[in-house]
Amino acid sequence: VRNVQALAACTDELTAKGLERYIRPDIDDGQVLAAEQSGEVPAIDLRRLLDPDHLEEEAARLRSACEDWGFFQLVNHGVPDEIIANIKRDIQEFFKLPLEMKNAYAQRPGDLQGYGQVFVVSEDQKLDWSDRFAIYAQPPEARDLSYWPTHPHTFRKSIEDYSSELMQVAHYVVTFIAKTLHIDTELMEDKYLCQALRMNYYPPCMSMAEKVLGFSPHSDASFVTLLLQVNPVEGLQIRRHGAWVPVKPHPKALLVNVGDFLEIMSNGAYKSIEHRVTINANQERLSISAFHVPLFDGTISPATRTQEEKVLYKTMKVKEYAELYMSNKRDGKRTLNHAKLL
Ligand code: SIN
Ligand code: FE2
Repeated sequence: VRNVQALAACTDELTAKGLERYIRPDIDDGQVLAAEQSGEVPAIDLRRLLDPDHLEEEAARLRSACEDWGFFQLVNHGVPDEIIANIKRDIQEFFKLPLEMKNAYAQRPGDLQGYGQVFVVSEDQKLDWSDRFAIYAQPPEARDLSYWPTHPHTFRKSIEDYSSELMQVAHYVVTFIAKTLHIDTELMEDKYLCQALRMNYYPPCMSMAEKVLGFSPHSDASFVTLLLQVNPVEGLQIRRHGAWVPVKPHPKALLVNVGDFLEIMSNGAYKSIEHRVTINANQERLSISAFHVPLFDGTISPATRTQEEKVLYKTMKVKEYAELYMSNKRDGKRTLNHAKLL
């Protein structure tokens, strides 16, 4: 599979047959709503959650954001501006490096980490118009430093700082989510402690922007995902009542979404949401996703609150779920259907 950034740069090839694998016949499978039609993704204020005077009110807003949207913008998240500025700068610098230098971190066969393209599981699979760079960041023992770039020279430190700040944010988010679900926080304690970071680069696609996707529709195999928009370009859309709702990048927010593991654990009270990324004709887009996932050797099971509550999901080994997710092509919420009890 070709490097998409390099492919996007050779304009003479862009109408050629080689691009067929990127063209999506199903791109219009839902109406794309304008912002006025869909309403804004709710904003949740972490500072208010941490303030006993406002906690109840903000927690009620958090609950409704998780129930009704599955996505929210987290404002006043407390991550220092400088740490955000550093990671944004270094991600942009990294993707500007010549291909040979990025390829020094190329994903090795059988590994999920590294620089490369979409997980290709079959020959006839449609390809995403993007390049990615993934690493395990937490717990620190999970790191494989051979994948941690030394260019730009500040990158490792930027990643390290950003990663630990996001662990703190995830801890708060999960704690307050547990509160809204009336689930013992202890049950949640090991569910978000592993963190994988994925930097996403979406090149512009001059000739066919409206026919390709940067990211196929999928829900995340995470407990919660925290996303930072690196540059102010739109592209992310979430599936809501069958339509696609574009998410406006909010310069001061982290975007949080409910992942499949939280859907299972909340016994469906909070649902993971399908999302996809569209491509612009003239502008590149960059983002970084922080997937907070349960320990690989643990299990995930629904935490029911009353004796009468019907259990809707199977108890599964986290590893088993992750392998299932990886072996399927990204296809909406397909993997999660395997976890449902009939
Ligand atoms: C993702 O779904 O992880 C990527 C989303 C984005 O780039 O906005
Ligand atoms: Fe995602």
